[in-house]
Amino acid sequence: MLSWDDEQTTAPAPRAPQAPSEAAPAAAEVAKRVNADDKRIINGQTDVNQLVPFKYKWAWDKYLAGCANHWMPQEVNMQRDIELWKSPNGLSEDERRLVKRNLGFFVTADSLAANNIVLGTYRHITAPECRQYLLRQAFEEAIHTHAYQYIVESLGLDEKEIFNAYNEIQSIHDKDQFLIPFINTLTDPEFKTGTLENDQKLLKSIIVFACLMEGLFFYVGFTQILALGRQNKMTGAAEQYQYILRDESMHVNFGIDLINTIKMENPMLWTAEFREEIKVLFLQAVELEYRYAEDTMPRGVLGLNAPMFKGYLRFIANRRAVQIGLDPLFPNEENPFPWMSEMIDLKKERNFFETRVTEYQTGGALNWD
Ligand SMILES: [Fe+2]
Ligand SMILES: [Fe+2]
Repeated sequence: MLSWDDEQTTAPAPRAPQAPSEAAPAAAEVAKRVNADDKRIINGQTDVNQLVPFKYKWAWDKYLAGCANHWMPQEVNMQRDIELWKSPNGLSEDERRLVKRNLGFFVTADSLAANNIVLGTYRHITAPECRQYLLRQAFEEAIHTHAYQYIVESLGLDEKEIFNAYNEIQSIHDKDQFLIPFINTLTDPEFKTGTLENDQKLLKSIIVFACLMEGLFFYVGFTQILALGRQNKMTGAAEQYQYILRDESMHVNFGIDLINTIKMENPMLWTAEFREEIKVLFLQAVELEYRYAEDTMPRGVLGLNAPMFKGYLRFIANRRAVQIGLDPLFPNEENPFPWMSEMIDLKKERNFFETRVTEYQTGGALNWD
């Protein structure tokens, strides 16, 4: 039996040369064929190299959907953004601060996300369909980092300042510091699942990553740049963020399916005490993201202000809580930005901002016209 443990070889043991006339494989080899029913998301014992037969079809379907949404940053024309940014009266000082603080969070956030998947989550997931999706997701995180880098380069921003913002800007630093212990749990080479305590740690880290990082910490930033785009400003950057938002909403949905399936397969993990810990983390995350909103928008800008985000963050936190089977944390919150839902659903064939791809198109990729 091949081990799914990454510290051991994943290649089949060499077999002695066999005569071509051999009639049937040995019973011991046939026993290695995978029964879908035996697969488990965590602590599984089936061969992770055998993708099929499928058990978690939802993960495979999301992998296919992710591939169908493939895009590359340099396909988006940044010329209008560059002209606007360079024009002395193109943007207000508050709008410029917002763009720089926004990028200051995102330029490193997706590297944290990618490292968390590749060095952490992936090792602990024993369903090959889910691993297949995580491989796709990891590449999408690389594309997102590329997109933010491309915007920074296009606008001629000080790249050292922007890329080091997570060390220099308190509100960004605090968000990342909240995430680091959960990332460290999964990426610690000594960490192994298989005990109640560690399986709960894994589940908690996956919840923090999907529901609070990708599912909450990204949303002030997405809303800000998409609001700029709605006012016909920074339309290239807004278009990139639109594709990133679409990818991230898929990541969140995958994460939530993963969480709910782990819960279903391991109901002993979902104790009252554990649920209480998760609620506390949700409340902390809402507070951190609200402080980031205040910091990026100390005065009203673009018709947005930080208090509007208080309602929005509570609305999103409720949604994430319900999606993983918790009660809403803030009853009766409504979405102050219903247009954000339209952004998530947008298909790549219809470009909301009406920009046109002209010079950055790659073969066989996007075509708007
Ligand atoms: Fe991302
Ligand atoms: Fe993501």
